[in-house]
Formats: sequence, structure tokens, C-alpha cells
Amino acid sequence: MDFDTRAKQWDNDPIKWERAAAVAAAIRNRVQLSPDLRAMEYGCGTGLLSFALCRELGAITLADSSTGMLAVLQEKITASGMNHLQPLHLDLAVDPLPTERYDLIYTLMTLHHVSDVERILRDFHALLRPKGALCIADLDQEDGSFHGASFDGHPGFEREALREQLVRAGFDSVHFETCYLMRKPQGDRIREYPIFLAVATRA
Ligand SMILES: C[S@@+](CC[C@H](N)C(=O)[O-])C[C@H]1O[C@@H](n2cnc3c(N)ncnc32)[C@H](O)[C@@H]1O
Repeated sequence: MDFDTRAKQWDNDPIKWERAAAVAAAIRNRVQLSPDLRAMEYGCGTGLLSFALCRELGAITLADSSTGMLAVLQEKITASGMNHLQPLHLDLAVDPLPTERYDLIYTLMTLHHVSDVERILRDFHALLRPKGALCIADLDQEDGSFHGASFDGHPGFEREALREQLVRAGFDSVHFETCYLMRKPQGDRIREYPIFLAVATRA
């Protein structure tokens, strides 16, 4: 998927804003946010979710593997003066683990693009401080129609299988809820794709 090319138009889609706002509300509901918390967003894109949460958090690292997304993000940070948001070019499939540790990691619609899910869940666990929380918002398992036949990522996630993967990665409590319903036209009807929020904590 060519996120570099799509970056400049990303924020023109009101659904992406609405989705980020719904996920931010669900995170706020499950996690005690505070300016004392150091956070990372993984797969931040243009930072829609972090901009929704940034007044309630301390320093936020916004990580993404797309230079196009990070360029748009940097423009938004400069324009808003939200200088506690720090872009980071990072792909945990190939880059070494950053040395910084976080109280909160959140990720929206990115896990289904990551081929080795077990590995990245272990990385997230390693990047969290004790008592830290991981929030994953992503598609429930679907039939592949969300992205279409040429997509080589995951067709969403089955919640119980993901829960087991999180436990194997070292997380101890995992809570799932539905936090948003994506609607996409398909032929002459509208298809609905639920998005879950999983909140996992480490000891
Ligand atoms: C569907 S977009 C979601 C962007 C943003 N979270 C949002 O909801 O608006 C997925 C994002 O994940 C990023 N991404 C995909 N694979 C990645 C990887 N292995 N490491 C870091 N970022 C990745 C893409 O560049 C893209 O910005």
C-alpha cells in the first residue's frame, strides 16, 4: 500500500477524523490519561489519533515507516505548535528497538499491515514501562473485502486469537470492545466493518 502517495490527501477524508475521535474516546474511557505519561503512537500516519489525545498526555513519539506521512505530520506539528509531538521514522520489522520506554503505546489501523504480529507484540511489550498499557484499534476479522484481493496484509483479527498472542507476548490483562463501525460502499449497498479496541497491560 503506497502510504507516501496517499499522505497529502489523508486528512481530507472526514471518516478518518471521525474514526480517530471515536478511538480516542474509547482509549480515554479505559486508560487514565495524564501529562505525566510518555506515549508512543505506532503507525501514526498524519497523527490524527495523537492530535485527538495530545492535550491529555506528556511527550508523544509518533512512529511511522512512511516518509510521506511523517512529512505531513511535521507540517501539522509546526502549524499547531504542539512541540511535545515528536515524529520518528521507524519500522520495527527492520529497525532496532528505540532506547526510550513508554507508559502508553497506541496504534490505529496499522497492525493489519504488519506481517509478523507476534514479533511486534513482543516489541511493544519491551517498549513499555512496568504497568504500561498497549491500545490496539483495528479491524475485526473480515472476508478480505476491506482492502480487496491484492492486499497481502491481515484480513482483520479474530479477538480471541489476538488475546492469546498478547498473553504469549507477556501482557497480563486484555480487554476488548467495539469502538467504531467503518462503513464502505460495496456495489449498491453499504458494508460495515467493526473496529475493536484492545487494551492490554503489562505487569
Ligand atoms: C491505515 S494507515 C493508518 C494511519 C493512522 N493510524 C490513521 O488511522 O489515520 C497505516 C499506517 O501504518 C503505517 N505502517 C504500515 N506498516 C508499518 C510498519 N511496519 N511500521 C510502521 N508503520 C507502518 C503506514 O505508513 C500508515 O501510515
